[in-house]
Amino acid sequence: MTSPVLCPVRFEDGALRLLDQTRLPAEERWLSCRSAEEVADAIRRLAVRGAPAIGVAAAYGLALAMSSAAGDETPLERFERAAALLAATRPTAVNLGWAIDRAREAAVAHAADEPAAVASALIEVADAIVAEQRESDLRVAELGAELLEPGDRVLTHCNTGALATGGAGTAGGVIAAAWEAGRLAQVWVDETRPLLQGSRLTAWELTRAGIPFRIVTDASVGALMARGLVDRVVVGADRIAGNGDVANKIGTYTVAVLAARHGVPFYVAAPVSTIDRDAPSGDAIVIEERDADEVTHIGERPIAPAGAPAANFAFDVTPAELVAAIVTEAGVLRPPYRDSIARALTG
Ligand code: MRU
Repeated sequence: MTSPVLCPVRFEDGALRLLDQTRLPAEERWLSCRSAEEVADAIRRLAVRGAPAIGVAAAYGLALAMSSAAGDETPLERFERAAALLAATRPTAVNLGWAIDRAREAAVAHAADEPAAVASALIEVADAIVAEQRESDLRVAELGAELLEPGDRVLTHCNTGALATGGAGTAGGVIAAAWEAGRLAQVWVDETRPLLQGSRLTAWELTRAGIPFRIVTDASVGALMARGLVDRVVVGADRIAGNGDVANKIGTYTVAVLAARHGVPFYVAAPVSTIDRDAPSGDAIVIEERDADEVTHIGERPIAPAGAPAANFAFDVTPAELVAAIVTEAGVLRPPYRDSIARALTG
């Protein structure tokens, strides 16, 4: 949201405090992580989630690794062990590897220092990433809101607000800024199976922000568009390839295809840090596969026969040709994306 309603990732008194997103909306419970292992576990089970927030949590996790006992390891060896652990938690969110690489530069620069000094340098890196994310979220929100028109009914998928970035959010920030600017009538919130980031988290944020919304099942998108009830789609991204292909929460591709079918503009909002310089196209993006239990159960409750096999791809790739614009802090990127993305990365 444009003025952050909350910061779900905080470093306080030597611990990383995380608002446990697995418990929302029923309970606002904060976790305290004191080691890289605890942070890795929180990222893996989605207690902290959303590509930018995962990167921030990992950066603080690396600082925590410096203060845990490690035998005769050097600070750099200790750093690399924690970096490997954290990097493996969620393969699709590019901000994770990006934040780890930034932290590595500081760790290398302070390699000869005591672990406590390395930890301080890493906390500084993490704090800087948070500050930059907040800045870029505000710019994305401002630029994205300008793409909307008064009375727009906007559909979004997954959760992309403060919970996902620690700032105003990406698509969530665009939605909030558009609401404040009088350019939004209502939000359609895809529930976002299987973990319900839409109905649990986006609905929670929109309620707190006083923005009108209705939750719909993911399967409703086609019917909504066919009835002319959706004016724009705005979503976030976990990784954007150099040609503009976009990896985001599973179901985003379906929304994009339907949007194209019905002539509804499909926008992606993301910081430049979500662009993967090493992925020429979506084919190079690794898609996280998660436990089948997330599909066959809601929480602890089974919704399928015991032992029923299931596939749980956490993300999909929307081809660039379906994306009308990518809103970044470096500007609104338009096709051809190879050119506009290259300019955003160098500018
Ligand atoms: O599995 P999640 O909840 O981490 O997935 C999050 C998303 O897909 C978001 O759309 C994406 O990270 C962008 S958030 C600013």
